Amino acid sequence: MLKVIAPGKCILFGEHSVVYGYPAIAMALGINSTCKIKRISHNQLRLHLKDYDRTFNFSSIREIRSKFPQEFKNFQVGFLSVIDRYGIDVLGMEVQISSDLFMGGGLGSSASTAVALMGGLGSFFDLDLDKAQISDLAYNMEKIVHGNPSGIDNTICTNGNILIYQNKQFQTLENIPHSNFLITYTNMDHSTKVAVEKVANLKQQRPEYVNKIFRTIGKVTDKAEKVLKRGNIAKLGDLMNKNQELLTKLGVSNRQIKKINKISLKNGLYGSKLTGAGLGGCVIGI
Ligand code: MEV
Repeated sequence: MLKVIAPGKCILFGEHSVVYGYPAIAMALGINSTCKIKRISHNQLRLHLKDYDRTFNFSSIREIRSKFPQEFKNFQVGFLSVIDRYGIDVLGMEVQISSDLFMGGGLGSSASTAVALMGGLGSFFDLDLDKAQISDLAYNMEKIVHGNPSGIDNTICTNGNILIYQNKQFQTLENIPHSNFLITYTNMDHSTKVAVEKVANLKQQRPEYVNKIFRTIGKVTDKAEKVLKRGNIAKLGDLMNKNQELLTKLGVSNRQIKKINKISLKNGLYGSKLTGAGLGGCVIGI
């Protein structure tokens, strides 16, 4: 049996504007998604999605193409890319996918399961994929889930660490001093696709207003990169609060997020903001 894990992620600065080419900073979390693969005697692909308590059996490649349930189309894309790009026969194996991350929590559950699956298939079939290839394959799966992803989620879930990302390029931030972060769940799952579409609609209605917000978020993120390196937590907190204000103007905050921010700041945190797409999901504080 082969087992591959991929970490979840948390966006520190720059969500949403990153979709339009501005920089964002993301870090990997020590909470993972897992893909387990083993050979089975039946000439089938057996896919077990543990968190959904669902198992699917496909007896031929044609069935993988035609009978994949619509709600899990992202996994179909993952399997088909290995079949079509690398000419691999995926029958005769069982693939189990699970995640310790909240689904719809903004912590990269879909990207990390995608990376775990593509890394798992790559290893199982000795495809010798490098990280860029794994990330690219996971990106194709992410397009199904998110519509228009920037690529930051699959990049951080593949490469780990803490990185700054812009326009499909990234740089790992080295020697960042230790800091403690608090991640709080709003108890509301969210859809990244819906939140990204909401911002896109606002941008269409009020392009100048939204572009100005994006530019300001970009400046906040650039400053945050420098401040992170210096380990100035109070200043980093200020920048997180500023980023939260700008995200609120984009319409992706809500009452729960606001309440968590307020409680966090009242209890001694330096900064607090939504992380990921917003409209629910998680809040990160420092
Ligand atoms: C989602 O984790 C981050 C967003 O910026 C979308 C994306 O970058 O694809 C909201």
